Amino acid sequence: MRVLVLGSGAREHALCLALAHDPAVTSLVCAPGNAGTAAVAEQRGVDATDGAAVAALARELDADLVVIGPEAPLVAGVADAVRDAGIAVFGPSAAAARLEGSKAFAKDVMAAAGVPTAAARVCETPDEVAAALDGFGAPYVVKDDGLAAGKGVVVTSDRDEALAHAAACGRVVVEEYLDGPEVSLFCVSDGTSVVPLLPAQDFKRIGDGDTGPNTGGMGAYAPLDWLPDGFVDEVVRTVAEPTIAELARRGTPFTGLLYCGLAVTRRGVRVIEFNARFGDPETQVVLALLDSPITELLLWSARGGAVPAPRWRDAAAVTVVLAASGYPGTPRTGDVLTGAEQAGVIHAGTRRRDDGAIVASGGRVLSMTATGPTLAEARDAAYALAGTVHLDGGQLRRDIAARAVAGDIRLP
Ligand code: AMP
Ligand code: GLY
Repeated sequence: MRVLVLGSGAREHALCLALAHDPAVTSLVCAPGNAGTAAVAEQRGVDATDGAAVAALARELDADLVVIGPEAPLVAGVADAVRDAGIAVFGPSAAAARLEGSKAFAKDVMAAAGVPTAAARVCETPDEVAAALDGFGAPYVVKDDGLAAGKGVVVTSDRDEALAHAAACGRVVVEEYLDGPEVSLFCVSDGTSVVPLLPAQDFKRIGDGDTGPNTGGMGAYAPLDWLPDGFVDEVVRTVAEPTIAELARRGTPFTGLLYCGLAVTRRGVRVIEFNARFGDPETQVVLALLDSPITELLLWSARGGAVPAPRWRDAAAVTVVLAASGYPGTPRTGDVLTGAEQAGVIHAGTRRRDDGAIVASGGRVLSMTATGPTLAEARDAAYALAGTVHLDGGQLRRDIAARAVAGDIRLP
């Protein structure tokens, strides 16, 4: 099988590693890719948000499957263009990807499907924002309505900061604060049925102890042994299946990966957000534990057929992100990385210079992923690997999975 992976992040590197491992895959191309994907896949340049260009590349490669990694091409309709060219594609249509592309749309779908989520108000003016903030009370949650690479959300007890963020965004969603630990559950769908993967936990803030601004994610681990029994089944039944059914009912079925960002609150599970693609960095840990061929899941989503049952290794995985100086603001690029070419080092914002050096080219530069028989051992191994990778000014959280290892995660 010939597979084209679209994107250039750590998620795409992790997908390429899993695909390269799958005996069914005879040819693997990543476009545009990064310095890490270049080691496992042929690289091709393409504008990932240009549907016609991606479809033309897929045709030229005679691809059997196109896997769309990031949200921007999905929201731009690249999956539609590839599907219209008669090629199987993993990833939803533009219409279904609005679940990620517009927070207001996602709220509307959840309301129609009866999916539990934070109460929210869509606001267009400063007066509406002020009224919504005062209605819900502190802590305040203000979200840019559109795509913002995980950085459009401000959670603060400072009313002026909440107002200022709303003013900078335009249309925003103001919502009720959800207490309780967060869980990311990836659900693969063929438009009708749902196959959950392993729950993982992401760390959104830049600083240790969940301090500082939100990022795209600074680390992750799986599995989550502190979750109540039946958690995955409950989320499939109360969140994923009703959402998939609602989109099918609207004539815009969702195929690909429905990423359920959840909070386990005092009053039960609530959806924080949906994404329309694999999450980053959770993908690194989830795929590190997958013990059955990834193509079974991706092809089923793209083409339908018998519902697959993924198998999982009886192990744990931890990934730690190394971000560039300045991230999540303007990252400093061009610094040379050392130690980046090792097993377990998964690349995101990296580029190989003409002289052969690997340099940082984005905010989240790479992530160090390791597995182990226990979470504690996986964590030690991930941090040991991180100790061998260097980037001047690099930012690394020191507490990824620490509370889970200490048995210190409390459900409210
Ligand atoms: P989102 O982009 O919607 O996932 O939001 C980014 C991060 O902001 C989430 O992972 C949470 O840590 C936090 N967040 C978002 N919405 C809420 C909420 N209603 N209550 C508490 N924290 C939230
Ligand atoms: N880990 C957060 C995201 O992928 O959006």
